[in-house]
Amino acid sequence: GYNSIPAFHKKLLESKRILAVCGAGLSAASGLPTFRGAGGLWRNHNATDLATPDAFEDDPGFVWLFYAYRRHMALTVKPNPGHYALAALAEKNPDFLCLSQNVDNLHVRAKHPPSQLRLLHGSLFDIKCSNTPKCEYIERNNTADPFCPALSAASEDVEPGQTLPLLDPKHELAHIPASELPKCPECKTGIQRPGVVWFYEPLDKDMLDEIEAWINEDVVDMVLVVGTSSVVHPAAGYAERTRTKGKTSIVTVNMELDTQSKRKMREGDFFFIGDAAVLLPQLLEPVIGKLEV
Ligand code: NAD
Ligand code: APR
Repeated sequence: GYNSIPAFHKKLLESKRILAVCGAGLSAASGLPTFRGAGGLWRNHNATDLATPDAFEDDPGFVWLFYAYRRHMALTVKPNPGHYALAALAEKNPDFLCLSQNVDNLHVRAKHPPSQLRLLHGSLFDIKCSNTPKCEYIERNNTADPFCPALSAASEDVEPGQTLPLLDPKHELAHIPASELPKCPECKTGIQRPGVVWFYEPLDKDMLDEIEAWINEDVVDMVLVVGTSSVVHPAAGYAERTRTKGKTSIVTVNMELDTQSKRKMREGDFFFIGDAAVLLPQLLEPVIGKLEV
């Protein structure tokens, strides 16, 4: 059956080249909201409406508050056993490549080997210039919370682990003018912006080429599709594109069995319904052993 763990384990042990495509559901158990489920709203805005160049141009202070909130949340939570299981699989299997749409830095904090991890949508902790791609400024791993003085104004006297008042989704905030946001230290004209990929923006070309080359190099035995609604491209297309006749097993790990993936399932595919943080350590155990976290 499509949800037989013994049958999955057999296929896993026969698999050499494995690809994973992860989404927000992987980090749900760590306490970060997903985009399209409950909690996908921030101050009555759809997260997907705020993640656009237009939204940033209209009101960069508002979009920065949304990202400062997400940075703060991501710093407050920890990687879960799902992240650790994928990192352990990478340690055991050099032919495993993990693609993630998550920008929360939890794969990195779980010590996933960097050469076996591609962050499709960038990172909340990279800072770019809004004149990108003209200005190539990038600062990596900036974990200042809450990032800049304008955002910290109402955030003093907060106990560790508490949400900064200004970033509280229920806070009635003062407007932050663009002039109070930090400028790019290189070109001195653009406002600094989160180093994430927004809708309508291209993904990093070199990274896409590398992924393409990896997929085309040889038959991929298994694709793990973890905690993603598979609606945003190119991430949503990798599993089907990687299929080779009768060889590739597509394994979905998701809280819900949606009709789209059900329709696409073929013989040899698997679908495990539940929390990725619980299921991944269990599913990968024959290769990674009992996970100690
Ligand atoms: P698309 O899916 O082809 O996206 C273009 C590129 O942007 C893709 O390569 C995608 O991976 C990438 N991308 C950019 N920002 C991203 C982000 N924050 N998260 C993930 N991926 C990102 O086409 P599209 O026009 O961007 O739309 C994708 C879907 O999202 C559509 O169904 C669209 O209706 C919806 N969407 C809605 C809104 C809105 O309601 N305002 C905004 C953006 C996208
Ligand atoms: N374990 C496994 N799956 C889960 C869990 C969990 N604990 N909790 C939720 N899910 C599933 C949901 O059923 C859903 O299918 O995770 C999926 C989350 O989907 P989305 O919220 O759409 O997130 P994602 O697929 O990562 O979104 C793609 O869209 O807005 C952009 O930049 C954003 O990278 C993101 C992209």
